[in-house]
Amino acid sequence: MTEMRAHTKKLFIKTYGCQMNVYDSDRMSDALAPHGYETTLDMAQADLVLLNTCHIREKASEKVFSELGRLKELQGERRAMGGDMLIGVAGCVAQAEGEEIMRRQPLVDLVVGPQSYHRLPQMEARVRAGGTALDTDFPADDKFDTLRHRPKAARGPTAFLTVQEGCDKFCAFCVVPYTRGAEVSRPASRILEEARNLVERGVREITLLGQNVNAYHGAGEGGDWTLARLIWALNDIDGLERIRFTTSHPNDMGDDLIAAHGECEKLMPYLHLPVQSGSDKILKRMNRSHTAESYLRLIERIRAARPDILLSGDFIVGFPEETEADFQATMDLVEEVNYGYAYSFKYSTRPGTPAAERAQVEEDVKSERLQRLQSLITRQQRAIQDAMVGRTVGVLFEKPGRLEGQMMGKSDYLHAVHVANADVAVGDLARVEIIESGTNSLAGRLVRD
Ligand code: SAH
Ligand code: SF4
Ligand code: F3S
Repeated sequence: MTEMRAHTKKLFIKTYGCQMNVYDSDRMSDALAPHGYETTLDMAQADLVLLNTCHIREKASEKVFSELGRLKELQGERRAMGGDMLIGVAGCVAQAEGEEIMRRQPLVDLVVGPQSYHRLPQMEARVRAGGTALDTDFPADDKFDTLRHRPKAARGPTAFLTVQEGCDKFCAFCVVPYTRGAEVSRPASRILEEARNLVERGVREITLLGQNVNAYHGAGEGGDWTLARLIWALNDIDGLERIRFTTSHPNDMGDDLIAAHGECEKLMPYLHLPVQSGSDKILKRMNRSHTAESYLRLIERIRAARPDILLSGDFIVGFPEETEADFQATMDLVEEVNYGYAYSFKYSTRPGTPAAERAQVEEDVKSERLQRLQSLITRQQRAIQDAMVGRTVGVLFEKPGRLEGQMMGKSDYLHAVHVANADVAVGDLARVEIIESGTNSLAGRLVRD
């Protein structure tokens, strides 16, 4: 059992990448709290700095090395004043390049991969005793068993909750199956317990996380549960008002999950369903095991269950051997789906992935295609956002706005909404009539019914 100590040391965590890293950063600070660490927002004050990194594209992983450069200076300043600053690298770059980081960056004391966060306190102790620590194993013990939320810490009204981690899909461009490991689902009872705990601490909206969240198949009462079954169980928790989940794969969109979008009251009308490309040739080479047509038919079924659902997606342009015609097929698919949000990226070669070995598309071609795709997506996003004007939607208020008396929140469809002179508190869920559509947000007024 770990002994409880007064908070004497400061921890600063910088988080890059996806929502799962945000969740993990919280778990790391929870794990270190009983060992005397309290989090600080000022890096210069930190006794321990953790960089929770992302390896998904080259640009993302390069950030780690430039940040380490900056940290060297801060560390020097603290040492000159008689203090110290331990430096650790966590996350997907740690997993992929941990040994090399240790070799090349003498200032790094500790490297920890995503499956070993529960071992952080022991690693920190080893470093404090003058050693270094590297752990990029995929241990058999369940990190989620050891990593528990601090029960009483207050929270904002929204939270992430990891239900599934890892990926067995091996898309030809993607590092995630290597950095996060094989697909693992957490038992339903643990997730429900964590959700109840969050609600007791003020959370009203939970976003379930997984690299392949809709492939969830955790142990539950009566056998393995699907994601839909889990959502229905969460729907029964009093005080929890909204449920979301991300990220889904088109091949794992079960009938019960589609139906839940039409029937489950707390499940929000928003679905992030990446397709990556509209060309069957490219999809095949990406090892996506779906076609443009099967994706479009799936969208039809989802919209039949929930006509107002807002769809979002991810796209890669300039994947090896993508021709102008292949790219045009992506543009056509985007036209047909009509996305409320979409994220698009230039293909980035990742060492160790199959597509890295193939003939690459030239950089200026990639840039030009990305620009065309993004302008189409921006137009769609804007039109869908503008069409909210005049509608009444639910808004969960998350924080005060920039202007006096203004409150900010997210609509059911995940649009940012601000309300002037709003007589509401953080955590309130209210009906709001949308009166104006701005560049990145909507303006609304409270509806009293
Ligand atoms: N698990 C999720 C998301 C994975 S990463 C899924 O299956 O969709 C998020 C997005 O980054 C991906 O959807 C993809 O569009 C993009 N991405 C992944 N690898 C990439 C690469 N090598 N180059 C460019 N974009 C990439
Ligand atoms: Fe990466 Fe594909 Fe797995 Fe998503 S489904 S995490 S893109 S390998
Ligand atoms: Fe990045 Fe790892 Fe998430 S590579 S996107 S931090 S799973």
